[in-house]
Amino acid sequence: MQTQLATQVTPELRERFSTAKKVLVLTGAGVSAESGVPTFRGGGTSAVWKGMPFDVISSAQMVERDLPAVWEWFDYRRGVLNQVEPNPAHYVIASWQDRFPEFTLVTQNVDGLHRRAGSRNPIELHGSMWHARCIDCHARFEIPRIGLRPNDCMSCGDRLRPDVVLFGETLPPGAFELAFEVATQCDFCLVVGTSGLVYPAAGLPEIAKQAGAYLCEVNPERTPLSDLCDVLLTGKAGELLPRLN
Ligand code: APR
Repeated sequence: MQTQLATQVTPELRERFSTAKKVLVLTGAGVSAESGVPTFRGGGTSAVWKGMPFDVISSAQMVERDLPAVWEWFDYRRGVLNQVEPNPAHYVIASWQDRFPEFTLVTQNVDGLHRRAGSRNPIELHGSMWHARCIDCHARFEIPRIGLRPNDCMSCGDRLRPDVVLFGETLPPGAFELAFEVATQCDFCLVVGTSGLVYPAAGLPEIAKQAGAYLCEVNPERTPLSDLCDVLLTGKAGELLPRLN
């Protein structure tokens, strides 16, 4: 099957989307790029912190070696997020949750912008920067947008760490299983702003394809997932997604 390349949403694609019954949307860092949040790879600027590449400062090893440095990096990122707003891509995705008989948003993003745009139940595969987790008892605590983040676990007193999947770590139990289940059932899968390099998230479009779903990718660049897709919409999510309506 030849992937159709397009720079605009065609009436056929809009029709196909509007008649879908079970929609899965998978997003990556690119969906937040137009909000001013750096991506990790690809078209946007890549993140480096105090000379350390993001996959070093955001790693399980660094939590063991220097947890305060990890918190400094995540405190900085939450600070950046407090200066930005969700963009039209986040808002239109949120508007779809009540439009289709079945709709599931799966995101690799930990920035919380989907929730801020009104998405009620995103499956946050890689966790969220707006939660902290106890290193010992794994109790989770919300981090307020305004005000201090909790330092120690209010259940057992041990230290807290960001509740985000760090490099060298596996996904939290349950999140991927749920996403996998949805991928085997969906009839339309929209892949938005991901380089498709990080598994298991990048495996979801393939699962959906094997289950017979129609695949549409939105990205300014081709990715390893593009050949799987029925359509690759080359452009920015904030500009193209609203045109699917
Ligand atoms: N609209 C759509 N896509 C965009 C836009 C935009 N405005 N700007 C950039 N992109 C695309 C890039 O071309 C790239 O393919 O978004 C993708 C971002 O890729 P990555 O930075 O690799 O982000 P992601 O795929 O989400 O990374 C996966 O890797 O670093 C880990 O845990 C981290 O969740 C992250 C995971």
